[in-house]
Amino acid sequence: MEYTYAHYEESAAALRRRIGEFRPRVLMILGSGLGFLGDLVEEPVAVPYGEIPHFPVSTAPGHQGRMVFGRLRGVEVAVMQGRTHHYEGYSYQAVAYGVRVARLLGAERLIVTNAAGCVNTAWRAGELMLITDHIKIFMESPLRGENLDQFGPRFPDSSHLYTPALGELARRKAGELGVTLREGVYMYFPGPQYETPAEVRFARLAGADAVGMSTAPEVIVAGHCGMEVLGFTLLSNMAAGILDQPLSEDEVLEAAGAAREHFSALVLACLEEM
Ligand code: HPA
Repeated sequence: MEYTYAHYEESAAALRRRIGEFRPRVLMILGSGLGFLGDLVEEPVAVPYGEIPHFPVSTAPGHQGRMVFGRLRGVEVAVMQGRTHHYEGYSYQAVAYGVRVARLLGAERLIVTNAAGCVNTAWRAGELMLITDHIKIFMESPLRGENLDQFGPRFPDSSHLYTPALGELARRKAGELGVTLREGVYMYFPGPQYETPAEVRFARLAGADAVGMSTAPEVIVAGHCGMEVLGFTLLSNMAAGILDQPLSEDEVLEAAGAAREHFSALVLACLEEM
């Protein structure tokens, strides 16, 4: 379905009834392994997606999905626990629905994390990467269809989707924490199959350092409505064809578990100054 401005407004109004005067400043969309940060929110108000009108609800069992409002490291946040992906059958508009709702509630910044395959052969699985830019071509845009002028222009500039000043903050925090932070370009593939080795070579030729199945749609929509973005990738595995071994979800989840502590420390340290 194509959403109108009224859909987003209705969702935001329903949430305002739940959160009262509280206004989130930062929206957090957390990928594999970091969802637990939503449980650290203080004085949380958790609203299941199913209770927010028009909000896309995950159909996967055990993945109810909810938006948690409260303070984290002293900052007013909205945390999306559970995210949707295009490969699950959602439109790109639906995948990014929560971004616009959070924007209407007052969020001006987005922190987004994901796990992805490492394309850059000079790096290692398990490392963290600051996303400096992304490549999302071939698939349609979440902004396709009638432009909602209330959010932003028909042809938004994409020169600085990932906010340079927030990247600088991440660099500084990584230094303080002693966490190695790579920097590079994330290339979106719709999945759900992992890439072929030829696709990974193509991605490298295109200038990508990582390949993954999320994030770009949400960031495009966030940029459209004027939000600043800080994005991190956990390079959970070497991308297909680099090592002589098949890719598996188990490997991704294991890497996410191993990185959990320093990854969350870095994200929280950045959040604290946002
Ligand atoms: N490719 C795409 N998405 C991913 C990967 C990958 O290698 N690892 C984790 N998410």
